[in-house]
Amino acid sequence: MTDRRDVIKAGLATLAGAPLSGAWAADKKKDDERPRSQPPLTTKPIPSTGERLAVIGVGTNNYSPTTPDERAARREVLAGLTGAGASIIDTAPGYRDSEQTIGELLAEIGNRKQAFVATKVTAPEGKLENGIAMIEESKRRLKTRVLDLVQIHSLNGVDVLFPHLDQLKKKGEIRYVGITTSSPNQHAQMLEVMLKQPLDFIQVNYSLANRDAADEILPAALEKKVAVLINVPFGGRRDGNLFSRIAGAPLPDWAAEIDARSWGQVLLKYVVSHPAVTAAIPGMTKASHLEDNLGAARGRMPDAAMRQRMEKYWDQAFGS
Ligand SMILES: NC(=O)c1ccc[n+]([C@@H]2O[C@H](COP(=O)([O-])OP(=O)(O)OC[C@H]3O[C@@H](n4cnc5c(N)ncnc54)[C@H](OP(=O)(O)O)[C@@H]3O)[C@@H](O)[C@H]2O)c1
Repeated sequence: MTDRRDVIKAGLATLAGAPLSGAWAADKKKDDERPRSQPPLTTKPIPSTGERLAVIGVGTNNYSPTTPDERAARREVLAGLTGAGASIIDTAPGYRDSEQTIGELLAEIGNRKQAFVATKVTAPEGKLENGIAMIEESKRRLKTRVLDLVQIHSLNGVDVLFPHLDQLKKKGEIRYVGITTSSPNQHAQMLEVMLKQPLDFIQVNYSLANRDAADEILPAALEKKVAVLINVPFGGRRDGNLFSRIAGAPLPDWAAEIDARSWGQVLLKYVVSHPAVTAAIPGMTKASHLEDNLGAARGRMPDAAMRQRMEKYWDQAFGS
């Protein structure tokens, strides 16, 4: 059982004098008013090895801080994530300074071993050597000899990259291989690759408001025993995302039946309770969002009947 005090201690012990940002500091003050222990994080196995991962990780397409405060906030998230026993950090060479920031912060915090670092690769100009150079650069920026997961980003380079990624896996430089998309237009192509190519992971867009992946992709992942990461579980960072559609609507009564205390937890519990889904990787740059989202990995999860109820509620309240 993870104690919340331990989580905060583990996360903050390494902040070496960095000022506490508002959210976490406020939480610390309220600590005495809260239960001493938290239920454990729900984990799920990676089908190809049985290694278990907490069902909530972090997406980092907004990890290029421009001020010390922004950097400190991201540091709190990465320290708090592994301090709580979660591990997945999803990044990409295309996310501006994200890899560099994560490499530096994990080194400062000292939690590389607790992290499951997932990055991405493409084959610029269709050339394998460009993909190889990209992976080397990712290792350098992330300050790691072994990448936990390398995913072909938005299926860009699937034809040239696979044999090489398999070799790197055999050599122990990569632990797992996967493919990603966040676009329903690529679902058919993703399915084709899944049927042809042995894969450890796929990463796909799926949410209460966008359930396309459940038609064929998620059943295929179950069938082929492929781990699934869910990106954009809140519909992204821009206006029009799921939070802006919810727009302050009260939490439905049934949320208590799945131990969800916020809309974020409702949305994430829906995603990670799909039997094919291994984990969701919501983007988060605030410790308050980390704490909220980790709550989705705790307590009761929706069963099939509750999932249907959630879908019906969403469609009636916010449109499909
Ligand atoms: N093709 C691909 O491979 C692909 C494409 C897109 C995304 N991705 C991956 O998927 C990850 C997730 O996607 P995303 O970050 O674009 O979108 P998202 O996860 O759907 O939403 C992120 C937004 O939600 C906010 N948020 C997080 N937790 C919250 C909470 N509990 N309450 C209220 N707001 C909350 C975040 O705010 P704060 O930042 O302020 O905390 C951020 O603005 C990316 O970071 C990336 O790693 C992969």
